[in-house]
Amino acid sequence: MNSIGVFGLGVMGANLALNMAKKGEKVAVYNYTPDLTDAFQAKHQNENLEAYYDLQYFIHSLEKPRKIFLMVTAGTVVDSVMASLMPLLDQGDIIMDGGNSNFVDSNRRSGYLKEKGLHFISVGVSGGEEGALNGPSLMPSGDKEAYQQVAPILEKIAAQVDGKPCCSYLGKEGSGHYVKMVHNGIEYADMQLITESYQFLRERLGLNVNEIAAVFAEWNKGELNSYLMEITADILTHVDEETNQPMVDVILDQSGQKGTGKWTSQNALDIGVSLSIITESVFMRFLSTVKEERMIAEQKLTGPNQLVEEVDKKAWIELVRQALFMGKVSTYAQGFYQYKQASEQYHWDLQLDEIALIFRGGCIIRAAILNEISKAFKENKELPNLFLSPYFKAILNNYQASMRKVVMKGMETGLALPCLSASLVYYDGYRSAKSGANMIQAQRDYFGAHTYQRVDKEGHFHTEW
Ligand code: 6PG
Repeated sequence: MNSIGVFGLGVMGANLALNMAKKGEKVAVYNYTPDLTDAFQAKHQNENLEAYYDLQYFIHSLEKPRKIFLMVTAGTVVDSVMASLMPLLDQGDIIMDGGNSNFVDSNRRSGYLKEKGLHFISVGVSGGEEGALNGPSLMPSGDKEAYQQVAPILEKIAAQVDGKPCCSYLGKEGSGHYVKMVHNGIEYADMQLITESYQFLRERLGLNVNEIAAVFAEWNKGELNSYLMEITADILTHVDEETNQPMVDVILDQSGQKGTGKWTSQNALDIGVSLSIITESVFMRFLSTVKEERMIAEQKLTGPNQLVEEVDKKAWIELVRQALFMGKVSTYAQGFYQYKQASEQYHWDLQLDEIALIFRGGCIIRAAILNEISKAFKENKELPNLFLSPYFKAILNNYQASMRKVVMKGMETGLALPCLSASLVYYDGYRSAKSGANMIQAQRDYFGAHTYQRVDKEGHFHTEW
């Protein structure tokens, strides 16, 4: 009998199946269309792998309670695959969904399977093809007892950091997919922040790609150490064989997206948290797509577009490094604030220190900073915002002046730095005991009699303006 079945043999599903087989699991694999099963069989011979062309045989080859890992396109496909499996399953069987599913769908699926006496486990999977094969970061949620049945497999195939698997039970329902969604939002912002730093170094300080590759490789040795920093340094060393230009220069500056960043921002609006940095990164992807309009606008709209002259480049590189790190801290502060609020509103009991730990290996946002984030939330479970932890507070107090210089120089020279700017705006907004909202309240009351509260007494008041 097989211990687990993998349904869906695209690159991610195939690599997860191989990973499980490598770790000693007996794995049955199945794909909806036979072409991928043929290709999988032709490529991979392993005594722990059994490919099936018939869904019934695939299901019957599994030990009970059956464990089926779906790696299919997120959306309606998950529902139709689940519908095809239902008549073949028995009470207590477990379906895991490893796609980038929307957590609202996962909540619904979790409730639906429960009614049928089956279990649903949401599994956020990060790390791309390589991670799936050698150790992804896994974010499982759902029924806890059911999780315990699949935990030995999931924890074995996950990336390991300091002897700890980058996989742990996160909470009820679709909270695993929620955690993955915000992970992706953080990924978008992190990528945009690195991009803005790259643009500043190249277009304002006049460094060439090789020099920037060296700067990024150097930064990657310190507190900015991360997978995204590492791959960006590497990207900059690649040359296009056809044109002999840096590879990055021959790639069209229009960004794609599959929607998880947008969902993160949509959810922030739903639950009422400030998520300006991630949201700016989503907006910048949208703005990037209107290439033709941008080319016309460049001819028609004035503004500076110049190098920063007569500067101490070395000193400016350090200012940019500090600004980038502050942007990264701010992104995590907002992302983890969103986790905290979601956990309260959806009654999930998310453990923020644990989430930071499982992001340390295997996933796209793995970074040295996650150790400190985990520590901050472990030391103080009630920490309202990462900004207030002793470690990050000291860094922000040190780096905020550099951030101001970089953002102001960007504005002065006409370089848009949306995520760096949003980080600074958030920082200044968060550290202001007095916001401008008293004026907003006065305006609301003036035109709509919406009432306001006073600083000196209890109650709700209205003025005949
Ligand atoms: C991961 C990634 C992955 C995501 C891609 C592409 O953690 O492995 O987040 O899940 O799908 O990075 O995302 P976009 O196409 O939206 O950029």
